Amino acid sequence: MKILLEVKNLYKSFEGTPVLKDINFRVEEGEFIAIMGQSGSGKSTLLYCISGMDRPTSGNILLYGKDISKLSDKQMSEVRLKQMGFIFQHSYLLKNLSIRDNIVLPGFKANILSREQINQNANILMEKTGIHSVGDHDIKMVSGGQLQRAAICRALINQPDILFGDEPTGALNSGATKEVMNILNEINHQGTTIIIVTHDAKVASRASRVIFLGDGAIHDELNLGKYEEIEEKNLYREKKLTSWLERQDF
Ligand SMILES: Nc1ncnc2c1ncn2[C@@H]1O[C@H](COP(=O)(O)OP(=O)(O)OP(=O)(O)O)[C@@H](O)[C@H]1O
Ligand SMILES: [Mg+2]
Repeated sequence: MKILLEVKNLYKSFEGTPVLKDINFRVEEGEFIAIMGQSGSGKSTLLYCISGMDRPTSGNILLYGKDISKLSDKQMSEVRLKQMGFIFQHSYLLKNLSIRDNIVLPGFKANILSREQINQNANILMEKTGIHSVGDHDIKMVSGGQLQRAAICRALINQPDILFGDEPTGALNSGATKEVMNILNEINHQGTTIIIVTHDAKVASRASRVIFLGDGAIHDELNLGKYEEIEEKNLYREKKLTSWLERQDF
């Protein structure tokens, strides 16, 4: 498998205080990684550094072999817009636009696909995530789960190589969490590489690999293999992950 992302000797400090210490890992195309760890262990900081939203203090981040940690802000935002998608705990959709307009906006901004392709992608994504019927609704008129599904559509409009999520289900109830995770598993199955940060073991059990951060360093990692929607296998994955998490003494 091709290496999509490589993190080498990554350090990050805030005003001299080290937060990430010598982080090294590789992400292959098609992986689904969940980053876990105690509050304050540096999960969000790591996600922001590897996705170019923040700069590492030292170290390298290679995207398909190209060091993105040295790019100018302008070049970095171009990479983010065209090759990466982002979802957060809250959807951050624009208030005065419809769901559909929010989804297509980054498509027009990136200017890599034609108007027809952008609209077609939006239709396919909204259909896939079950929000097609609310496409013309104002964002105030839909549920939290629907907003998050719209945020996923928006993140995928330019067909990114990798999708990053910081607690993407953190504000959702268990039903909406399951729906969002089903969508993420489907997208991943179709080839998009995913890295999310989560506190929720049930959510992390959908990933193919779990990385545990402790005190700013990679403490351990667990291979779960590709997720399949089989009840018995799901229970086994959750059990395996839970007992592994119990052994992480942070
Ligand atoms: N912009 C910043 N300036 C100063 N310190 C920061 C900044 N961002 C994060 N930190 C510090 O870095 C450490 C790691 O923070 P981070 O947000 O990455 O943790 P986290 O693992 O995502 O926690 P949580 O699970 O609560 O979201 C914390 O001690 C935090 O206070
Ligand atoms: Mg965080």
